[in-house]
Amino acid sequence: MAYLLEKHYQLPRSALLSRDDMSLNELALQEWEGIVSRRVGGEPIAYILGKKGFHNIELLVAPGVLIPRPETELLVDIALAEIAKLNKYTKVLDLGTGSGAIALAIANETPLASVIATDQSSEALAIAKQNSQLLNLHNQVAFAQGSWYEALDQQNQFDVIISNPPYIANQDPHLTIGDLRFEPSSALTDHASGLSCLEIIISGADMHLKSGGLIAVEHGFDQSEAVVKLMQATDLTDIHVHLDLAGHCRAVSGRKRP
Ligand SMILES: C[S@@+](CC[C@H](N)C(=O)[O-])C[C@H]1O[C@@H](n2cnc3c(N)ncnc32)[C@H](O)[C@@H]1O
Repeated sequence: MAYLLEKHYQLPRSALLSRDDMSLNELALQEWEGIVSRRVGGEPIAYILGKKGFHNIELLVAPGVLIPRPETELLVDIALAEIAKLNKYTKVLDLGTGSGAIALAIANETPLASVIATDQSSEALAIAKQNSQLLNLHNQVAFAQGSWYEALDQQNQFDVIISNPPYIANQDPHLTIGDLRFEPSSALTDHASGLSCLEIIISGADMHLKSGGLIAVEHGFDQSEAVVKLMQATDLTDIHVHLDLAGHCRAVSGRKRP
């Protein structure tokens, strides 16, 4: 609760400890009681505060979007390494952008990236667009609505495709505990085996990657073998499994053959 108090009232922890003469007026007290009851009910802190830090940016978040996770920063770093290697104007696609986290974190780090960010959810896209304005990245990131590649022109090809799709299987008990209870189910689960969105994204990459282009996708801790097989089945090459900071297999990347 101290963290919430500190962030909500924008007071340093030292002020909370040293200024025990401070008190809340009746209105502020009512507001604080509302906040406490939301947190006691299990609502994630990011939804209560309405914001979440990700990579080097801060994003607005609301119950219509997934709260960006630290492990997803791995996808940003994979994309940034590829852009640095290419060292030229780079077209990037972020499929299922949610709050805009991946697309905006990439654009924030390099002026070389021109990003298209898609989502099926209009609620998510509205928040992502708001974030692009607040971060002054709206000239570098464009948005499109639709199911995966259907949001794009068929001829549109990219140097880098990145995606963190819903990959939790429909019967996974984690969906009914913790923060996940409050997040949109369409951002978490494919309502099937967990692999169906990954399969669509990987199998469509050939059409939307430039020759030699890179795709990287996030997946569940036990899905890397299946994702590698999906990439092999699509004839992608240079396939790598990437570990997150906790040492879990968290992403797989592959390339379209030159
Ligand atoms: C796991 S969330 C990732 C959000 C964000 N990229 C991040 O990492 O924080 C998956 C996103 O995919 C979107 N999504 C789900 N099904 C989709 C589909 N068929 N086409 C496009 N986006 C979809 C969801 O709305 C959600 O925003």
